[in-house]
Formats: sequence, structure tokens, C-alpha cells
Amino acid sequence: APGSPALTPPMGWNTWNSFGCTIDDKLVRESAKKMVDSGMKTAGYQYVVVDDCWFNPQRDAQGNLQGASGRFPDMKALGDYIHSLGLKFGIYEAPGAKTCAQENPNLTYRYPGSTGSLGHEAQDARQFAAWGVDYLKYDWCSSDGTLADQVAGFTKMRDALRATGRPIVYSINPNSYHADKTGATYNWSQVADMWRTTEDIQAQWPNVTGIVDINAPLAAQSGPGHWNDADMLEVGNSGLKPEEWRSHFALWALMGSPLIAGNDIRSMPADVSEILRNPRLIAVDQDPLGAGGRRVRHDVQENTEVFAKPLSDGSVAIGLFNRSDATTTIRTTASQIGLSGNSFTLTDLWTGDTSTTSGDISASVPAHGVAAFKVSGGTPVTRTTSSLVGARSNRC
Ligand code: GLA
Repeated sequence: APGSPALTPPMGWNTWNSFGCTIDDKLVRESAKKMVDSGMKTAGYQYVVVDDCWFNPQRDAQGNLQGASGRFPDMKALGDYIHSLGLKFGIYEAPGAKTCAQENPNLTYRYPGSTGSLGHEAQDARQFAAWGVDYLKYDWCSSDGTLADQVAGFTKMRDALRATGRPIVYSINPNSYHADKTGATYNWSQVADMWRTTEDIQAQWPNVTGIVDINAPLAAQSGPGHWNDADMLEVGNSGLKPEEWRSHFALWALMGSPLIAGNDIRSMPADVSEILRNPRLIAVDQDPLGAGGRRVRHDVQENTEVFAKPLSDGSVAIGLFNRSDATTTIRTTASQIGLSGNSFTLTDLWTGDTSTTSGDISASVPAHGVAAFKVSGGTPVTRTTSSLVGARSNRC
């Protein structure tokens, strides 16, 4: 949104994917500390986000939200602790009467109460600012409501946050479990700093690829201060294989999605930590140009795809994505990814190794893998809007 504190895609960690409603102050503090000790903070992760179920099922006598008794005794103290580590504090609320855990019909449990922000927007925004909140995830959970209702509800909290005077990243989800009615493809850039484009991610490969199919074609509406959010990461979570963790991370970086880790970082093994901290892929995600990666080639026969994300230095980051179940050599060319010239340097974004090419680019890619390179040394070919439209419609 205009004046956004998120000029590059926000990076952090969120409680939901690994812990759901089973969260407390201790878990959040330990995870924040680990974000520093694991090197994630140095790699760029900043926001420690407490998702649904942090609050008491009832507001207090003045209508204020309160941390859940026993689990979150003092939200201001938690924010102070997170800030003392040089990190930022994120929290969760919903525009309706209930949060998703209070409303979601798909959950096997139901969190009690009705503590959504409906009718309390200004009060809740002031409360968050007083606690030192730096990031609000605001999650549409009502099973009814039109797009116009959503725009009104999300705008109301945007204005309430602005009125506090505190810079707070505004992360919205117009999409929970009823994408048919919602603003999945609405351009929220005037309202929010990032918005979910899909229903909830799960640590299952078809779900991850399904998100790519929906999110990648929306690249044109993403940019500094307004990001398509492909949802929190499942890197490190069981259900995906290590190759799939790597591909998931590379694709999110190539799409310029926020990178919000969703694993138990307190106990993550070295290979998972290395994926999350890959400095070359993080630089692709965080590139100040903020271009979303486009799918420039889709070979239906091979079940392979090529993603290309222009970078601010004139180079292009690419991903050679093998969706098939067999190792496949995937090929592209400098001209296909939008570069002209006679000689290019390829930097492997996984290993850092470099090589040169006069234009042909290829790699043998394992099943479900993504080979990723930065291609530099060429000149970006300026594309007119019409050629982009043409490229898009020819794509698949
Ligand atoms: C929705 C969101 C999730 C999570 C849960 C919490 O499903 O999409 O990311 O915040 O609500 O209940």
C-alpha cells in the first residue's frame, strides 16, 4: 500500500504451519532466539509472527483484546523481548466477528469465543501499536461476504493502522477456504502491503505446485510495497521431500513472495537451515526492483517450466523447474529469458559456482527439482506491454 514499510517482500517466521493453536509465549520466545542463533536474522528474517489463537476467548470489560491467560501473560513484554533481539513483532486478527480458528468449518477443533476485530478496529489497532506490533496478519474468515465487503473490511483496518502512526506491515488474506467468492485476483495494492493469492498451503507437493499455478500468473500486480503472498513456507515440514523443500523455496524466491518460515526452527536440521538461509536465492527474492518471476516457457510434454525474474542490476534470475517424476534436462536461452548479448555468466544459485555461455542454458534437473541461476552480462530486452501480453497468452 502507499507508504508501505515493506519495500521488499517481508521475511520472518510464523507459528501456524507447525503449531496451529498450540502456542505460547515460551515457544515464540525460543523461536525468536533461534532466529538469531541459527543465522536466520543475519540472512534477512525479521518478523516473528504469532498467528491465530494467541488471545483470550473474551475481551476484557473495556473491550480490549488480551493474551490468552496462562499462555500469553503479557503481549507487550513479548514484543519487548522480540525487539531486544533486533527482530520485529507480528500478530494475527480477522475482520469479522470470529478468527479463522473460531470460524473454520474444516477444523476438527474450534477455538472458543468471538474475538475478531469487527467493530473494534480502531481499538485493536491502538492496542497493537501499544504492544509494539510491527506486522498484522488480517485474515478474512467469514464464509459469506462479497468482494466489496472484503475491500471495505480490509480498508477499515488499513486506516485504523495508519491512524496509530506506527509503521505496521499489513498482511491480508482474502482467501480462506472459499476462493470462489473472494478477491483472489483482486489487486490489493492500495489496501495492503501483501495479500494471499491462494487458499492455505499444506506440506504436500500438489498443493505447493497448485499455489505456483495460481500465484505466478499474477506477477504483474506485485512490486515494492505490494506483494503477492504465496503463503508461508513448508520448508522443513514432513509431507514434502528435501528436493521439494528446495524447489518450494526457490520458486517462492523467483516469484518474489514474502518468505515466512513455517517450520519448527528450534529443532531444524542443518540442511533445512541452509535452504532457508541460501543467500543467493534470498537476494533474488529481496531484489529492490521487485519484479515477480514470470513463467517464460512451459513444455507440456516434458512437464517442465522456465521462470525468469528480472533483477535490478540488469541480470535475470531463472528457475528450470522439473515437475515430472524423472530427471530431465531442461533448456532455455538468454533470449527466451529476455536478455540479448553474446556472452553471459551463469551463477548457480544453489552452489555459487559460475560458468559462461554464449546463450544456451541447460541443466539436468532431478524429479520435482528446480535448477536456479543468475544470468548476467547481457542487456535486458525491453518488452512492450503487447509483447508481454502475447508472451503470457502463449505461455501454457
Ligand atoms: C487461515 C489462514 C491460515 C491461518 C489460519 C488460522 O486458514 O489462511 O494461514 O492463519 O487461518 O486459523
